[in-house]
Amino acid sequence: MSTALVTGGTGALGRLVVDRLRERGHDVRVLSRRAGAGTHVGDLRTGAGVAEAAAGADLIVHAASDFRRVGRPDIAQTEHLLAAATGARHLLYVSIVGIDRIPFAYYRNKLACEQLVTDSDVPHTILRATQFHELIAFALQTVERLPLAPLPLDFRFQPVAAADVATRIADLIDGEPLGRAPDFGGPEVQTLAQLLEVWRASRARPRRAIRIPVPGRIGRAYRNGDNTCPGHADGTQTWQQFVASAPVSAYTVKPPRTG
Ligand SMILES: NC(=O)c1ccc[n+]([C@@H]2O[C@H](COP(=O)([O-])OP(=O)(O)OC[C@H]3O[C@@H](n4cnc5c(N)ncnc54)[C@H](OP(=O)(O)O)[C@@H]3O)[C@@H](O)[C@H]2O)c1
Repeated sequence: MSTALVTGGTGALGRLVVDRLRERGHDVRVLSRRAGAGTHVGDLRTGAGVAEAAAGADLIVHAASDFRRVGRPDIAQTEHLLAAATGARHLLYVSIVGIDRIPFAYYRNKLACEQLVTDSDVPHTILRATQFHELIAFALQTVERLPLAPLPLDFRFQPVAAADVATRIADLIDGEPLGRAPDFGGPEVQTLAQLLEVWRASRARPRRAIRIPVPGRIGRAYRNGDNTCPGHADGTQTWQQFVASAPVSAYTVKPPRTG
């Protein structure tokens, strides 16, 4: 049994990682900014409480991220965690497939975090995963009540169940540090139009959708599927199975804000 710290352990992915690690018998600490939400209160952005949470932890899963602020605080968050992780024998950083191919500000910040982890002395694994089913569900849920849902229907995705990613993380963190692990994607690459068809068959919404054209390099990259890894279609739960099981309300990510 090891002592494991999970940052982001209250999030969509992190809480599933916490479950997996506890099932495997680890003593799991969960860092959260909110008292009572985890086992340890702390703020990675300022560093408050981070050293206390990391002291004596031999495994660390770093799944915290501030998507609402487009990942801008993530760099300081990762620096603070690495500074506190000197006793860890393995730290796993959760990243995203294609961040080096898509010029999206959030991805640039994730890439900078990967670099910090790579340059550190902390033995580590970086795991890049594709978009979670939960994220696609959140996006569709957000527009499904509009009379005409504007969506980039020609974007490609390879959505994966956060539960499958959590299992992969638990397997990896129990093993030796790999540096960069093989990417991890869902079982199918589909356009958003195809994903929407499945969603609509189950929920009868949105009644109508219209393709919004997304110009520039970001639009081209998603149309091209630069965010996918078809050679690593290792997740097992399909989008159709996820929608049928419909745990949509469980996903709490909020849209980016500029502050
Ligand atoms: N969503 C996707 O489709 C997807 C795909 C591939 C990879 N990823 C990556 O997977 C990871 C988890 O994503 P997710 O969607 O599960 O995240 P999420 O649900 O948005 O959760 C974010 C987590 O970060 C924590 N956090 C944020 N700022 C913090 C701070 N200053 N101090 C301490 N904790 C902080 C939050 O904890 P509290 O609010 O409790 O403090 C929360 O647990 C991220 O690195 C993301 O980039 C996501």
